[in-house]
Amino acid sequence: MRAATGKPLLDTVLGFRQPRPPIWIMRQAGRYLPEYRATRAGTTDFLQLCYTPALATEVTLQPLRRFALDAAILFSDILVIPDALGQRVRFETGEGPVLEPLDVAGIARLARLDPGTVLRHLQPVLETVANVRAAIAPTQTLIGFCGSPWTVATYMLGGKGSADQAAARLFALNEPVAFAQLIDVLIDASIAYLVAQLRAGADVVQLFESWALNLDEPAFRERVIAPNRRIVEGVRAQIPEAAIIGFPRGAAGMLAAYASETGVNLLGLDYATPTGFAATALPPDLGVQGNLDPLRLVAGGAQMAERARDIIAAFADRPHVFNLGHGIVPQTPIEHVAALVDIVKNG
Ligand code: CP3
Repeated sequence: MRAATGKPLLDTVLGFRQPRPPIWIMRQAGRYLPEYRATRAGTTDFLQLCYTPALATEVTLQPLRRFALDAAILFSDILVIPDALGQRVRFETGEGPVLEPLDVAGIARLARLDPGTVLRHLQPVLETVANVRAAIAPTQTLIGFCGSPWTVATYMLGGKGSADQAAARLFALNEPVAFAQLIDVLIDASIAYLVAQLRAGADVVQLFESWALNLDEPAFRERVIAPNRRIVEGVRAQIPEAAIIGFPRGAAGMLAAYASETGVNLLGLDYATPTGFAATALPPDLGVQGNLDPLRLVAGGAQMAERARDIIAAFADRPHVFNLGHGIVPQTPIEHVAALVDIVKNG
């Protein structure tokens, strides 16, 4: 096991239990903060914000100025990979991301790209990593991330977010060869991108598998477990001690298989996962992250405090990073975030 570093959140990912769980909040830089909305209002589009290091650094640091969080998460998006691969991505207000859906010929074009293309395009994001590293306290952890291949592919194949990912699920079944080629392209790009983030100063990286739900067992093994495992192995082939969090949202009955077969250091739990599940289904030393329902944070008050304390108590015997069970939503009152951080820090 890697030695402790003195950064409580990184150390928890590495397997060292802390007296109180460290905390960060998924999507902690975002529209619930007025200062984020002000910075965003000065940009023409969302990707411009991601690709301008001074602005991306500023919004990464905004939540750390307000709350006693243990980590900064790089401000970027999972869809910068398709953008870097040349598939145009637009973010429409109120509509979410919009892409021109890929077909078999488009995938063949991606597979022929020069492998250096992605990192050249994402150079400004790596610059943001280095800027943030220099700006945060030595005890704070810097989290980098990418989307896992299946989740990113659902947007690349469907052209937008959807409730059931039907376009991508059908494409995977009807065009297995092209689908496998797309997953291979995304695995290679993700490994290169995560290694570059770790070398630029990220302490930990998180794999966001936000659409691990809606898959049957063979599909989950092929599209989620195998690619996440190949990324973990590919990153560790270059950085053997890389600290990696996996967040397979909606994995449900496949969660234990994901944890043991991918080799991630810490398992992110969505809010629908019962806290008792970890005790019965996971190895006793495997750390977990989560898993407060983001709407409990919107509603706030006694129900939020009670649930947060129950989650902390349930995971007290293993490494635990406190977090929401999915991203914070724009209507979240700032005072509720401050109250939650206080409960996690002080009981
Ligand atoms: O603070 C942070 O956590 C870092 C930044 C971050 C963003 N997106 C910024 C963002 C991170 C880690 C992400 C991850 C991401 N992006 C995921 C995985 C996490 C999850 O929520 O499941 C996914 C699926 C995406 C794709 C994406 N990006 C969608 C579907 C949308 C539109 C919906 C929405 O929430 O607005 C985005 C846009 C986006 N990414 C915004 C932010 C702050 C809002 C855009 C804006 O400011 O106009």
